[in-house]
Amino acid sequence: FSILAPDRSLTGKHVLVTAGPTVEALDPVRFLSNHSSGKQGYAIAAAIAEKGAKVTLISGPVKIPAPKSVHVVQVSTAQEMLAACEAALPADAAICTAAVSDWRAKELASSKIKKSSDEPPTLRLVENPDILATLSHHQKRPSLVVGFAAETDDVVENAIAKRLRKGCDWLVANDVRVGVFGAERNQVSLIDSTGVEMWPDMEKTDVAQRLAERVSKFFIPS
Ligand code: CTP
Ligand code: CA
Repeated sequence: FSILAPDRSLTGKHVLVTAGPTVEALDPVRFLSNHSSGKQGYAIAAAIAEKGAKVTLISGPVKIPAPKSVHVVQVSTAQEMLAACEAALPADAAICTAAVSDWRAKELASSKIKKSSDEPPTLRLVENPDILATLSHHQKRPSLVVGFAAETDDVVENAIAKRLRKGCDWLVANDVRVGVFGAERNQVSLIDSTGVEMWPDMEKTDVAQRLAERVSKFFIPS
């Protein structure tokens, strides 16, 4: 035996990962976005690729390099991210870590919005498509669909409800009151149809490793 033999148990599988923020333009110079660093999603894409899977990483703009052996598709808006996900199907699994902007501007101003002497402008927003829910109910639904949820209150209760609402198989929930954005560590709970598994506080790369092992077990139960 060899303890050094690499685990390539996901060979032949195609895994879709979304990561980073989306950026929604308001006018040619301004946008609506969020603080997602992309670290957790990139670490997951890398860990899954290391197990031999073909990984398509659909990413909003982030400041970290593309992981080795991962096909990266760069997008900016939620609508582009959804289109890229659907174009990448079929996939065996989809892991949605992206911090998708919940809204975009109802009308995109073609010229810079100027100050005037009256009231500040009112931003009219419309809801963006829900990528995780769309993939969960897709005609070409991956066998395993995983969501992430950043919560600040009643983390587990909200996450259990969110898993059912989205229609995904697993939901990885974390408490963002403690400043997870851009951090190296993460404390998460994995919720599936059988219950809640609380993972200890660990490096985002270790969360990625553990999730990759879970995914591999899902496909090859031992
Ligand atoms: N998500 C998505 N598309 C959206 C919004 C969210 O794919 N338009 C995905 C995220 O990538 C994540 C999961 O849904 O995997 C949960 O995101 P979250 O923002 O926690 O859920 P929301 O339904 O947007 O609820 P909330 O009002 O709490 O933001
Ligand atoms: Ca949201």
